[in-house]
Amino acid sequence: MGTRERTFLMVKPDGIQRSLAGNIIDRMEKKGFKMVALKMMHISHDLASLHYKEHEGKPFYQGLLEFITSGPVIAMIWEGDNVIEMTRTLVGATDPGKAAPGTIRGDLAVFTGKNIVHASDSHESAIRETGLFFKEEDICSYQLTHEGWLYD
Ligand code: RTP
Ligand code: MG
Repeated sequence: MGTRERTFLMVKPDGIQRSLAGNIIDRMEKKGFKMVALKMMHISHDLASLHYKEHEGKPFYQGLLEFITSGPVIAMIWEGDNVIEMTRTLVGATDPGKAAPGTIRGDLAVFTGKNIVHASDSHESAIRETGLFFKEEDICSYQLTHEGWLYD
């Protein structure tokens, strides 16, 4: 078994409005990852600014904050070996026009500003983002019965 990790994955307001949440969760479950936390919520302007701090000052920043606070999102934590990097691969490139077919953005989106999902891009981001959205006691610790069929 490799390094068991957690990542933060969010269905953005466009994904909710387009009824794609189930499809995205299905892909993560089928891949073999374990959901350990989930909540639907409206993101406040303060939380949005913290979450997207790295993009402060960029031309798309204000639009990004307006978009991410424009409707409910589904925030999740997923667990598995190398889940951070593998989830980024499943999500695909930021620009859905460049995202490979078979990825979430490659299959389900057409525009960078409406690219359906957010996923942590590093260990540091994963720790920071899970901490912004969840308390430690919100995270469920449990065994999936099929884990022996996913890992040695
Ligand atoms: P995310 O953070 O949402 O998972 O996306 P990402 O890592 O693939 O992309 P990132 O560079 O972190 O950008 C965050 C989000 O900002 C919007 N964006 N718009 N108009 C633009 O040039 C532009 N660039 C980025 C996208 O919604 C992107 O997901
Ligand atoms: Mg990012």
